Amino acid sequence: MNERAAERRRSLHGEWTSRLAFILALAGSAVGLGNIWRFPYLAGENGGGAFVLVYLLFVFGIGLPIMMAEVLIGRRGRRNPVTTMQLLGEEETGKSGWRVVGGLGVVTGFLILSFYSVIAGWTIAYVFESASGAFRNAGADTVAGIFQSLVGNELATGGLHTLFMALTIGVVVLGVEQGLERAVRIMMPALIALLLVLLGYSMTTGSFIEGLVFLFEPRFDELSGAAVLDALGQAFFTLSVGMGAVMTYGAYLPENESIPRSCLAVVSLDTSVALLAGLVIFPIVFANGLDPASGPGLVFQSLPLAFGQMPGGVIVAVLFFVLLMFAAWTSAISLMEPAVAYFMETRGFTRPKAALLVGTTIWLLGFLTVMSFGAWSDVTFWNGTWFDNIDYLSNNVFLPLGGLAIVVFAGWIMARNSTADELDPAAGRGYRFWRWAARYVAPVAVALVLLNAVGIF
Ligand code: TRP
Repeated sequence: MNERAAERRRSLHGEWTSRLAFILALAGSAVGLGNIWRFPYLAGENGGGAFVLVYLLFVFGIGLPIMMAEVLIGRRGRRNPVTTMQLLGEEETGKSGWRVVGGLGVVTGFLILSFYSVIAGWTIAYVFESASGAFRNAGADTVAGIFQSLVGNELATGGLHTLFMALTIGVVVLGVEQGLERAVRIMMPALIALLLVLLGYSMTTGSFIEGLVFLFEPRFDELSGAAVLDALGQAFFTLSVGMGAVMTYGAYLPENESIPRSCLAVVSLDTSVALLAGLVIFPIVFANGLDPASGPGLVFQSLPLAFGQMPGGVIVAVLFFVLLMFAAWTSAISLMEPAVAYFMETRGFTRPKAALLVGTTIWLLGFLTVMSFGAWSDVTFWNGTWFDNIDYLSNNVFLPLGGLAIVVFAGWIMARNSTADELDPAAGRGYRFWRWAARYVAPVAVALVLLNAVGIF
């Protein structure tokens, strides 16, 4: 069992210093805008309860096994997703075509980060808005006005997007291990603590039960096919799976660390943060008569109302948006690393050169998102604005397709010995759960949702 090919391969970029470092990096990737910005607004747009239930089923039934598949593939291949899929594909089947899956992932990372960085820029703007006291005792109209004038100011949002991309490129240039571990170790507990403080506030709004019911009472008659696809896309997005980010982090995972336990811990943490954010936001939404279906501005138009009313709200608000920016940062790094590893390993680029090339391309692409929330907000095609389209294409199409290919590869193409070897069959039940989910549950569920979305099923 120890004579596997993978043992002869070493990561070209070093390894995490410990299992905890890996879990922290993975958690830093998973927890981000997806939990606090995207989950609440999608839950709001899709009617709450039933969407949330389907989302939870997808996270544990599809996302978790795919995450484990990505880590095990990554650790066995020890390269960027393109090379890793090629190497393992050749080992298992003699064919190199599986590299296409890695290629799709690298492209998807570009697309996602191009809008992710713009939203992260909004959080930076909100650090300054908060500090200026603009939210003190502000009503819903004032808060909505602040949001509208921010997104309408392309110079500001474009500038902050630039700042955020510079920060992300900076960390990727230094190498992902450095700093990431410490940042996540401090930031993550602080972010959760602040969410708990906000939860305390939400409980006093008088609409807490209403929020609770909205989030957790499933009303299946309101569940559309589009909502199910949104839930699938969000399950992938929030866990960072389907594009090779987790695979790339898995490539730096030392031997002999338990993959199932690490993944379960990260998925549980990520889910808790999302639900916590929902529990904070919806009571505020209902107490202030806001529309839960108002879209990507939901968090930015609801939380400031709480900050404006609570004692010490300015400090809490500044801290909150700083931490959210950090959470976005540790996620953005993982969106860039696969492409950077690819250019370093296959083109011989230095890390700074690869990071600059990838980062600059994403930065430029991001201005389309900046404009689509600003002057071009009326320019629509296919699914809506540029942002709507890039969001739909990357999260509802590419991530599920990538995840499907990854899990089919791990469950059906890789020999049982190969996966058992990585996942440690001593874990027994963990391995059996994984193999069953990877072979049947995840592929069938993803395929059904995708077929349903294109109207075939
Ligand atoms: N999961 C992150 C969030 O919820 C975003 C993210 C980071 C991501 N890496 C990813 C999404 C890879 C998809 C794929 O904020």
